[in-house]
Amino acid sequence: MASLSCIPLLLFVSLLMCSLVACNFNQHFDITWGDGRAKILNNGELLTLSLDKASGSGFQSKNEYLFGKIDMQLKLVPGNSAGTVTAYYLSSQGPTHDEIDFEFLGNLSGDPYILHTNVFSQGKGNREQQFYLWFDPTADFHTYSILWNPQRIIFSVDGTPIREFKNSESIGVSYPKDQPMRIYSSLWNADDWATRGGLVKTDWTHAPFTASYRNFNANACVWSSGASSCSSSSNDNAWLQEELDSTSQERLQWVQKNYMIYNYCTDLKRFPQGLPPECSAA
Ligand SMILES: *[C@@H]1O[C@H](CO)[C@@H](O)[C@H](O)[C@H]1NC(C)=O
Repeated sequence: MASLSCIPLLLFVSLLMCSLVACNFNQHFDITWGDGRAKILNNGELLTLSLDKASGSGFQSKNEYLFGKIDMQLKLVPGNSAGTVTAYYLSSQGPTHDEIDFEFLGNLSGDPYILHTNVFSQGKGNREQQFYLWFDPTADFHTYSILWNPQRIIFSVDGTPIREFKNSESIGVSYPKDQPMRIYSSLWNADDWATRGGLVKTDWTHAPFTASYRNFNANACVWSSGASSCSSSSNDNAWLQEELDSTSQERLQWVQKNYMIYNYCTDLKRFPQGLPPECSAA
């Protein structure tokens, strides 16, 4: 924690502006690809990505963050979204990058999306967990959150934790804590693998496919010129110590019991030499 030097006033002001009203997309994000297929609308309150046969589209945050509690509301591609993937993730750069992923794998109308998650540290991933959702993620906006602090990463959906990845450095597992990350999102065609393992192809007669974003909110430490600045208010910074309370633990168990469809930590076929060490850490 010694590495977090705080520039109080500056950041306090910007956090406050974002927590009273949702952060503005114009202020916080750049559209990075898609040649007009990504749009910021309603004075920065709404962002849409689209995909057609020629291209997908994407955006990224202007800021880099080292730890944060980041919320975004997404409404996924409705109808026949088979073959499409909407990725929403944090990532640093380079061959030993860190990454915290949400990916939404589309499906035929009425068939469930898969929410795919992964955590990379020092360039190493292979930590997939996949879930069905307990609602239709295309009917309305829902909040997808990443809590990333020095002790743990918690993925949540509408405030319900679905996955926790703990810092297991004490047993030799690297943990994302030194490389600042940006927020990225993109919508693209992945019909070679996404839906039923690539069996169901994208139906381009339904294009363009569109996903929408709103109510971005970040309580985070912003990285700039080699230092991370957090808010000076201990109230705003409670997330830096946050852990799951017993109610949240129960919710997590509920999701894992009823909605988890893949867990690398139980995939003995994949890891015949033994499961990754973090899997046995309580
Ligand atoms: C799509 O629906 C099928 C059938 O219900 C299901 O097996 C699969 O997990 C669903 N999701 C994806 C992304 O393939």
